[in-house]
Amino acid sequence: MSLLPYDDRDGWIWLDGQFVDWRDAKIHVLTHSLHYGACVFEGERAYNGQVFKSEEHTKRLHRSAELVGYKIPVPAEEINQIKRDLMDKNGFADCYVRAFSWRGAEMMGVSAQKAEIHTSVAVWEWGNYFADKMKGIRVTMSDWQRPSPKTIPSAAKASGLYMICTMAKHKAESQGYADALMLDYRGYVAELTGANVFFVRDGAIHTPTPDCFLDGITRHTAIDLAKARGYEIIERHIKPEELSTFSECFITGTAAEITPVAEIAGHTYKPSVITEELVEDYDKLVRGKLKVSETA
Ligand SMILES: Cc1ncc(COP(=O)(O)O)c(C=O)c1O
Repeated sequence: MSLLPYDDRDGWIWLDGQFVDWRDAKIHVLTHSLHYGACVFEGERAYNGQVFKSEEHTKRLHRSAELVGYKIPVPAEEINQIKRDLMDKNGFADCYVRAFSWRGAEMMGVSAQKAEIHTSVAVWEWGNYFADKMKGIRVTMSDWQRPSPKTIPSAAKASGLYMICTMAKHKAESQGYADALMLDYRGYVAELTGANVFFVRDGAIHTPTPDCFLDGITRHTAIDLAKARGYEIIERHIKPEELSTFSECFITGTAAEITPVAEIAGHTYKPSVITEELVEDYDKLVRGKLKVSETA
């Protein structure tokens, strides 16, 4: 597979107030967040020209920055408008959207009180996160655990938290799996490296309580869709010993959308009615062909 590098493409990127040529959207090597892990970011998808839940993503971006200790200087309405303008400028109707902020290069050390806060938005075309999505992905267990919220602000979507995800994902891929399931610091089932997880048993849907990992926007959408179909949602701490007791499993995330899981570390699942209905409903919802009331 030939890679199209992300720093060598045609198009436009919004950077600190201006639309710049894609190849000129550069920062210095002594950028604080590159060294100290406090870049905050959003991953969003646009369908038929509309960014799905754009306002919620922008709100989370601002919240993530607050959680890691800074304020994004670009107001939410402006970020939402930039996403729309950037899609128009790049000619995309269906694309991935990445809005992000970071501490600049004014200070280099643990303290960066006076570092400037930068913001950028980029959009690119991106298909399914997993190849052969509807077959169900194969997942292994990660050796890495999601940390306590007393160790790191786990509700933030911040780059430092993704070091664990990349290590877990790389190991899984090197062993032929699509992804890895991480437990949390207490040993409960937490999430995958870029998605939340749901299980089905006896017609009810079980999902881990998001008290130390990202409470995904797609996770809430899936809960709303499941409730609209009349399914019971049980949010609770799930032990890894229970993995053998579930009949279906699926994951949710902006990139993954709703993806069926065929296996977790030897426990097999058969994507069946509930998973298929939710995959279909999500697909309709994001394209404006279904309405659902939001609970979260
Ligand atoms: C670690 C992690 N968990 C969960 C999610 C799902 O979040 P969302 O549905 O808001 O995309 C993501 C995706 O951003 C993620 O990276």
